[in-house]
Amino acid sequence: MKYNIAVVGAGYVGLVTGACLAELGNKVFCIDNNSDKIKMLKALKIPIYEPGLERLVIKNVKRNKLFFTTNIGEGIKEATIVFIAVGTPPKENGEADVSAIENVSKIIAQHMTSYKLIVGKSTVPVETGKWIDRTIKLNLKKDVEFDVASNPEFLREGSAISDFFNPDRIVLGVSSKRALDLLLDLYKPIKAPKLITDIASSELIKHASNSFLALKISYINAIARICELSGADISQVADGIGMDKRIGRAFLDAGIGFGGFCFPKDLDAFIKISENLGYDFKLLKVVREINEKQKELFFSKIKSSLWNINSKIIGVLGLSFKPETDDLRFAPSLSIIEMLKKEGACIKAYDPKAMEKAKSLIKDITFCKNAYEVAKECECLLIITEWSEFKNLDFKRLKKLMKRRLIIDGRNILDKERLNNLGFEYIGIGR
Ligand code: UGA
Repeated sequence: MKYNIAVVGAGYVGLVTGACLAELGNKVFCIDNNSDKIKMLKALKIPIYEPGLERLVIKNVKRNKLFFTTNIGEGIKEATIVFIAVGTPPKENGEADVSAIENVSKIIAQHMTSYKLIVGKSTVPVETGKWIDRTIKLNLKKDVEFDVASNPEFLREGSAISDFFNPDRIVLGVSSKRALDLLLDLYKPIKAPKLITDIASSELIKHASNSFLALKISYINAIARICELSGADISQVADGIGMDKRIGRAFLDAGIGFGGFCFPKDLDAFIKISENLGYDFKLLKVVREINEKQKELFFSKIKSSLWNINSKIIGVLGLSFKPETDDLRFAPSLSIIEMLKKEGACIKAYDPKAMEKAKSLIKDITFCKNAYEVAKECECLLIITEWSEFKNLDFKRLKKLMKRRLIIDGRNILDKERLNNLGFEYIGIGR
């Protein structure tokens, strides 16, 4: 069956979820209190770069399956299922700020005139579902039935659409048969194992998954250090470890550390959640520490190869926190550029998609229109994001442009031997 659906919050998760549910044939209202964003979306302009999203939004708006509004009352009027996908940004102490969840729960309750299933999609502290339930009960204006459920999203930026349609699993945290039946029916077209559980476990699965992935990255970054100290090669070691099916090769790429709006903030939030519940999650504190250290280590590689940094021209390739996105939130590039600026470097930078966002965020650096323009007169080129175009650069051309042929590859995407043979000095991570 197809449903009338409301998605509150048109950020990464909300917008992708809304567009994909509309693509499945449901009628979806995406709601956001940012009127500029809604205006843009109504004009079929997408505020983020995400492969495939623009096509999906345009198609479904045109066939009257996808609508945008700032008005929660209007958006939820016809909906049976209401997804809450508003942001849970970090507070200063690392805790997730769930005030937007409380706010929208109140407003939803005040506008409810018929049964609704309210589903938590955002990444939230365990027990948030309980609070949503309580808040709705306290703010209902009419005596209507409702259910609360948790259905965390596991999509990755850059591959969000395909992650939505081909997930490893769909987690459904429910407390009633009615809620379960609705969600099972909604997700029927998606062929993926469905884990049915209680709301608290579902909420916890999300934080525990992201923290485990972050842990895998910090683990391999720590092993990369051991490789550097012992002369081993991290790529070989990661392949060897990853061939064990119990471990798996994914998320074992050493580099300058994880960034983005999910891992760093979710890790902090999970440490805080555990602390509030009475558990000191030391393991995750070390994961965070290793990740921070990774950026310093990268910077020390620059320093030890350039001696003085002051006034030297340094080229930065890649600004977004990962390829196929223009997202700069918690991007390692920002920390590295900051460290370089403090030492007086002249920085030139290029990113295939994040230039516009970077220009409003990073001051006093030169933005270039491609990697070759960056390389001109550079004493050192830094690979910060593993965009595939950086893997296939014309290195003979680069060689002629650079003042000193030094490449420091923060993502291990280049072939050290090939570059050495071409006359480059090459420094990677853990190799
Ligand atoms: C992550 C999770 O992968 C998603 O499942 C989850 O839904 C999402 O967070 C979220 O909570 O919303 P995302 O942050 O988009 O997705 O990107 P990832 O592909 O997971 O990469 C995160 C960071 O880890 C990036 O900075 C990336 O460069 C780094 N990374 C990843 C490594 O350094 N090494 C690896 O082997 C893999």
